[in-house]
Amino acid sequence: MNKSDALVFFGITGDLANKKVIPSLYTMVRRGRLDVPVVGVAKAGWGLDQLKERVRQSVEHAGNGTYDQAALDKLLSLLRYVDGDYADTATYDSVSKELGAAQAATFYLAIPPSLFGVVVKGLGDAGCAGGARVVVEKPFGRDLPSAQELNEVLHTVFAESQIFRIDHYLGKEETQNILYMRFANSLLEPIWNRTHVASIEITMSEDFGVEGRGTFYDAVGCLRDVIENHLFQLVALLAMDPPVDGSAEAQRDEKGKVFKAMRSLRSGDMVRGQYEGYRDEKGVAPDSDTETFCALKLWVDSWRWAGVPWYLRAGKNLAVHATEVVIELKPPPHKVFAGDTEPSMTNYVRFQLNPRVTIAIGVRVKVPGEGFTGEHRELVLHDDHPEEMGPYERLLGDAMEGDSALFARVDSVEAAWRVVDPVLADHDPAIAYAVGSCGPPQADDLIAVDGGWHQLVAEQADG
Ligand code: BG6
Repeated sequence: MNKSDALVFFGITGDLANKKVIPSLYTMVRRGRLDVPVVGVAKAGWGLDQLKERVRQSVEHAGNGTYDQAALDKLLSLLRYVDGDYADTATYDSVSKELGAAQAATFYLAIPPSLFGVVVKGLGDAGCAGGARVVVEKPFGRDLPSAQELNEVLHTVFAESQIFRIDHYLGKEETQNILYMRFANSLLEPIWNRTHVASIEITMSEDFGVEGRGTFYDAVGCLRDVIENHLFQLVALLAMDPPVDGSAEAQRDEKGKVFKAMRSLRSGDMVRGQYEGYRDEKGVAPDSDTETFCALKLWVDSWRWAGVPWYLRAGKNLAVHATEVVIELKPPPHKVFAGDTEPSMTNYVRFQLNPRVTIAIGVRVKVPGEGFTGEHRELVLHDDHPEEMGPYERLLGDAMEGDSALFARVDSVEAAWRVVDPVLADHDPAIAYAVGSCGPPQADDLIAVDGGWHQLVAEQADG
């Protein structure tokens, strides 16, 4: 696929653009990754000067007042703006005019999915779709039928190879580390299966609430907001077989198999929670049953993972802010050191995705002195601050270069909805939990691991 020669950004006056995407465009310019016209489109009654002002503020804010003036000026010089209704053909005529001779534009749709259809049709009718690609944001549907419908809409104008579905977790440096660690080493592969792995836990714990996004969140909930996409993508990276090569399709083929092997959830596999005070948030229904916490037990029915439970939990307004994966290995088969008290977790591999990027291996070592008693130690392989390159910068850059490895393919997206669909319809009411807690204690009943959910290392550090 050719490198893109223009970026057209629908929804450029919105919140996502302001907070995440515009600062990423700036860093792309600074690194020399963006040097083509950027056409902003919105229905805001704005002109180019207003857009430039917004971009200036957004970059200043993201850098806490520090930025590279030359890079900002360069970005401002690339900007064009079209103000118009997405249902009006005149809007697409103006976009075409701004695109001039561009043959391979990237159309980025940072707009509600309900508008995808009208924009995609507008682009098709205006003859803009030919050598182009389209980037769409999550949420990608709200269940399997709506996701299928959206896919059909996109496919009326764009081939699957032209569609880039963003899940920003796939653009994170930390997530790439899982893939690299697994397949650039031979150390892990022999133990990375049901023979040696006892369970896998993935926790995404946030210590803040819905932060003004009540209207959006109340219609979505935790399962759709982060589990069905971000955490399932982590499951796929952790569970997949080695791709035959480094190509995008080889990786996506292997991930696709994991999504297909995931067993559909039943209501007993899930515990839903809602933080106290959630119903008073702006935009939230006073009798809302939307979950702000969700814990579940998942099975990947494949040769490699048969019988290994995957425990996933995510929530808002919890005690700590951390995302962490723990792959717990089975204990030694025979107890040689009688004096050693049985540890609840013997060996494990731990990936922390935030607040730090950490890869660590947990082991037992002997306490010096007489007798064979041991203690727990961690061998830290990598420990760093995240975000050398932010996810939006990586993902938009990749889409513009035509590299689809880090984007969700249609088969995976639909398979993921098939897994959660039954519990979207059939579930127990959300259980209230205190702000700053670990979620409802009923989540502990899901887990068959000794000692319950692992304590997050960030939790230990925070005391
Ligand atoms: C978004 C969700 O997709 O991911 C938010 O809509 C969530 O609710 C966010 O807070 C978390 O992303 P990150 O990169 O901060 O872990």
